[in-house]
Amino acid sequence: MIPQKGKISRYQLDRYASGDSVSSRLFEEARSLIPGGTSRQFYTFQPNPIFAKAGDGCWVTDVDGDRRIDCLNNMSALVHGHAFPDVVAAIHDRVAKGFCFSEPCETELELAKMLVERVPSVDKVHFRSSGTEAVMMAAKLCRAFTGRNKVAKFEGSYHGYYDHVQMSVAPSPKHWGSAHAPSAVPSSAGLSSNVADEVVVLPNNDPESIERILESHGSQLAMLLVEPLANRSGMSKPAPGFYRFLREITSQYGILLVFDEIITFRLGVAGAQGRFDGSPDLTTFGKVIGGGLPIGALGGRRDVMDLLDPTTTRDYVVSGGTYSGNPLSIAAGIATLNRLTQTEFDLLDELGTSLRSGVNDILKQDGLGAQVTGEGSLFQIIPGTQAVSSYRDVPTGERADELMRQLHTGLLQNGVIVARRGFGCLSTAMDLEVIDEVLSAFERAVAAVRL
Ligand SMILES: Cc1ncc(COP(=O)(O)O)c(C=O)c1O
Repeated sequence: MIPQKGKISRYQLDRYASGDSVSSRLFEEARSLIPGGTSRQFYTFQPNPIFAKAGDGCWVTDVDGDRRIDCLNNMSALVHGHAFPDVVAAIHDRVAKGFCFSEPCETELELAKMLVERVPSVDKVHFRSSGTEAVMMAAKLCRAFTGRNKVAKFEGSYHGYYDHVQMSVAPSPKHWGSAHAPSAVPSSAGLSSNVADEVVVLPNNDPESIERILESHGSQLAMLLVEPLANRSGMSKPAPGFYRFLREITSQYGILLVFDEIITFRLGVAGAQGRFDGSPDLTTFGKVIGGGLPIGALGGRRDVMDLLDPTTTRDYVVSGGTYSGNPLSIAAGIATLNRLTQTEFDLLDELGTSLRSGVNDILKQDGLGAQVTGEGSLFQIIPGTQAVSSYRDVPTGERADELMRQLHTGLLQNGVIVARRGFGCLSTAMDLEVIDEVLSAFERAVAAVRL
């Protein structure tokens, strides 16, 4: 039985980097069976990912028996940490009653109602099995509603791996073009060559440039897609009035405004749009609304969402998905949201504020030339100390990458899990004592950096 709370074990510190661990051996074997050693490419990093064996609360135990504080929570999907008792009970209950039907289940309605009640811009909801699918359906719905072809997204925003959003996710200075009219740069091999012509890339927090870009493309755009606090853009916050500006300019050109809240829905009862006063036409959801099981959802204006209704006489947008709205994910999502009230958001805010201020103090003292940004339970370690308002404000290049590599490895060695690119998030399974442990690990990781 794994204890609910516990200190980071000391002897793991050397094992991870030594290359002599069960995880490193598994990774080597996995590479011969699975390209890159894992089906999730973000976890293919040096020297090797740790292989998880168990999770309890804010702790992950790896196959070597080492325990770490999980500040990644399956890329933000777990807002209550691992094996949260309410979620476990809801899943058990559902499994025992049958967990997969051709028929709809009443519980789908319950989760839809929760989202409608929480988010004022959402009248109706359509469930998917992943965030990527939700974004893909948003694009199709916007095209069907407007009769237009092109979509606009921001440079440095990630929205999953649907072709039209795999543009300019993290372009290099060599390819990114003008700061005021960024080039559309493919972020994956294998995209159709037509995609670049159908995607307009925008600079974040830059109304004048956006106005100019829309003068040329506005009347051809079906959707303008926003990732609030994009973590590849240093989690830059919207400048005062920026979301109002986006609302007005999209209305002016008849473009549908879509917020991708797949990560940021963990920022408050109504997500980032509630926190920063956004009013999109459509919103994509994922991660926390499935309590750790596969999910995606699309919600928004009734007249747009009704294009997904096959009983209407108009042409409708066809969707499928054997597992869309599956009862297990829905049950886990309901159990999660039931325990995600303002009280939990207040706790997450307190933990996040404490972590960010502690990490920034450590980084400042050490003079490493890095900072942590973020909001609520979300944080992002980035190279550079200047204020960030868009993707290009975050330093790139070899030194920046080496700094992030060493910090990431150092944190893993010292018992803390964050993403390779410095992204992290907290859970309600944590308290201020846990944050202190994270800060101690951070101090040790920073002290070991050699550039
Ligand atoms: C903002 C955002 N949008 C979309 C996605 C894609 O979601 P999924 O991984 O469930 O397909 C992600 C995943 O990390 C995301 O962070």
